[in-house]
Amino acid sequence: MSKTLLIIAHTPSPNTAALAKAGIAACRDYNDDDDNGDVETRCLSPFDVTSTDIATADGVVLGTTENIGYMAGATKDMFDRCYNDWLDFTNGKPVAIYIRAGLDGTATKRALTSISSALGWRLVAEPLILHGDWNDAFCQDVANLCLGMAAGLDAGIF
Ligand SMILES: Cc1cc2nc3c(=O)[nH]c(=O)nc-3n(C[C@H](O)[C@H](O)[C@H](O)COP(=O)(O)O)c2cc1C
Repeated sequence: MSKTLLIIAHTPSPNTAALAKAGIAACRDYNDDDDNGDVETRCLSPFDVTSTDIATADGVVLGTTENIGYMAGATKDMFDRCYNDWLDFTNGKPVAIYIRAGLDGTATKRALTSISSALGWRLVAEPLILHGDWNDAFCQDVANLCLGMAAGLDAGIF
């Protein structure tokens, strides 16, 4: 059965856009391989996410920056608008998180872990913090995270 994977990516800079692009490409390559099942990947800015986008996705990868000691305002805006709709209706949703943090990232990780827990989301991996000066290897880290979600959904593990 076909699965849908939603990547929610806040991309305020070329580096964060490259992270999202790497994640999408990994999932689309997975889908294009005839040996694998169908996993349709869509990517949205958190500003464009509505409550039904997560409710109808089989799995979600959430990518945000850390700004001023918290998740990006764009990501926070999404939760402000959708949290109540998701409460009790998205229990058990498989979710993976990556955080691009120039300095730290721990406050954003703590907040997103707490929100995920309150919503009953299932974090399929420890939130990935891409921390410090930019490193091209971050793109592969995000690709691996997204690929793992796609393969896990396809295999029925998540
Ligand atoms: C206004 C502003 C506030 C920021 N605050 C934090 C912060 O509190 N913690 C942190 O780790 N990085 C912080 N950063 C760095 C961003 O996380 C980083 O620039 C962003 O993830 C984009 O990554 P890039 O610079 O590699 O494109 C801040 C950046 C800006 C512009």
